[in-house]
Amino acid sequence: MKNTLTKEYKELLRASLEARMHSYAPYSHFAVGAALLCEDGTVIKGCNVENASYPVGICAERNAMSHAVFEGRTKFKAIAITGGPAGKAAADFCAPCGMCRQFMREFCGKDFEIVLAKCNEAGEITEARIHTMEEILPDSFGPENLS
Ligand code: THU
Repeated sequence: MKNTLTKEYKELLRASLEARMHSYAPYSHFAVGAALLCEDGTVIKGCNVENASYPVGICAERNAMSHAVFEGRTKFKAIAITGGPAGKAAADFCAPCGMCRQFMREFCGKDFEIVLAKCNEAGEITEARIHTMEEILPDSFGPENLS
């Protein structure tokens, strides 16, 4: 785990905060934003989109990655994720859920980085954590296991 943000990762976190503004979370009132950094430098954003039939909702991470795949991008360097009560600062780290970890593993190697941050009311980053895919999903099952 690392704590130092590069300029690129600060911008990625900023993009995740922008994505978070689009969250549709009328049931949990928990707004999440994700910004995915593709290998070619493109950034693709996603937010959580909930549903009246609760399990049908989608997390911000899977929303962003699905959109990227739709656009023909399947190689990624990192994802920034910010989340917290809707209308409030993303004051605590929002780590990806188990389903999103496995979903992202499909397209990401063990060195893919997950960038998390705590922010204050002004939207400034106050603390950061950078994990690798291997750290958050050790001993994982991926597409190479089926080839
Ligand atoms: N959520 C995400 O979008 N990403 C995460 O990493 C954690 C949880 C969403 C799902 C649901 O809409 C809300 O947050 C509360 O669980």
